Amino acid sequence: MSEPTIDSVRHILVVGAGAMGRQIAMSAALVGYTATVQDISPDMLEAASTELAGWTAGRVAKGKLDAAASRTSLGRLAFTTDLETAAAAADFVIEAATERLDVKTGIFDTLGRSAPAHAVLATNSSTLGSSKVAAVSGRPDRVCNMHFFNPALVMKCVEVVRHAGTSRATIETTLELARRLGKEPVLINREIPGFIANRLMGAIQREALALAEAGIASIADIDTTARSALGHPMGPFQLMDMVGLDVIDFIAQATHAETGDPADAPHATVAGLVAAGKMGRKTGAGFYAY
Ligand code: CAA
Repeated sequence: MSEPTIDSVRHILVVGAGAMGRQIAMSAALVGYTATVQDISPDMLEAASTELAGWTAGRVAKGKLDAAASRTSLGRLAFTTDLETAAAAADFVIEAATERLDVKTGIFDTLGRSAPAHAVLATNSSTLGSSKVAAVSGRPDRVCNMHFFNPALVMKCVEVVRHAGTSRATIETTLELARRLGKEPVLINREIPGFIANRLMGAIQREALALAEAGIASIADIDTTARSALGHPMGPFQLMDMVGLDVIDFIAQATHAETGDPADAPHATVAGLVAAGKMGRKTGAGFYAY
C-alpha cells in the first residue's frame, strides 16, 4: 500500500456539515484544494452552503477577499449525502460528524472500504481518540485525530494526535496539510482525554464557575477579568456560550468517563442550563441572553 504523502493530497472529504465541518472545508477551498462536504442531512448541507456563501460575501464586502477568489473558492466545494462515492475520490478525509462512537464507527468502516489506499482518515473529534475507530477502518496506520477549533476559519491551532499504531507518514502528512491550510499544528504523542486545549479550557471553566457560584464576582466581571487581565479574546462564560453548553457538558461527560477524576465531572450549573434548553448563543440564551 502506498504511504500517504502531502503531494498526493488534492481532494479533501469532510464528513459532517455542522459548524466545524463546513468551516474546515472552506479553509481547504480557500487555499486551493477541492473539497466535498458529506452529510446524511440535505438540510444541513443546504445550511452549510448558505452560511459559507454568506461568509465569503462578508469577506468580499470587508475587502479581505476579492470577488473572483470568492467565486473560485466556493466553486471548489461540493456537497453530497453519498459517503461511499465521496470517499472513493478523496486523498484525505476529515471526519467531523456527531460525537458518537457508533456513528463514527460506521463512517470509518465505510471510509476504510471506499477511500483510496493512500488516503489518511482523520477525525476532528476532541473526545474520541482515533484508536477507537482505527481497527474498523482496516488501515489503522493511516488514522489519527486532527482537531480544529471553533470557529475553524479563524482559529490557528490544530491538535494532531497519534494513536499507538499511527504511522510517521500519516502524522507528517497531517501536520503539513494543517500548515498548508494556514494553521499552526501541534503534535500530541499519546492519546489523553481532552488533548491539550480542552484540558486547559476545562481548568479555567471550573475555576470560573467556582468563583461565580461562591458569589465572589459576577459572571460578567469574571469574563472581563479574563479579557483585560489575561488577554483572552473571550471570557470563559462567553466562550462556553459560543461553543455550546451542550458541547461543554458532553466533553465533560466523555472526559470524566475516561479519567474517573472528580475534577473532570460535568458541572451541575452547565447541565442545568442544558436541561432548561439554554445551550448558549445558538439557542439565544445560556449564561447570557442573546
Ligand atoms: N466564523 C467565521 N469567522 C468568524 C466567526 C465565525 N463564527 N466569528 C468571528 N469571525 C471572524 C470575523 O469575520 C473577523 O474576521 P476579520 O478580522 O478577518 O475581519 C474575526 O473573526 C474577528 O471577529 P470579530 O471582530 O467579530 O470578533 P472578535 O475579535 O471578538 O473575534 C473570535 C471573535 C475569533 C471568536 C474571538 O473572540 C476568539 O478567538 N474567541 C475565542 C475562541 C476560542 O477559544 N475557540 C476555541 C473553542 S474550544 C474548541 O473549539 C474545542 C472543542 O473541542 C470544543
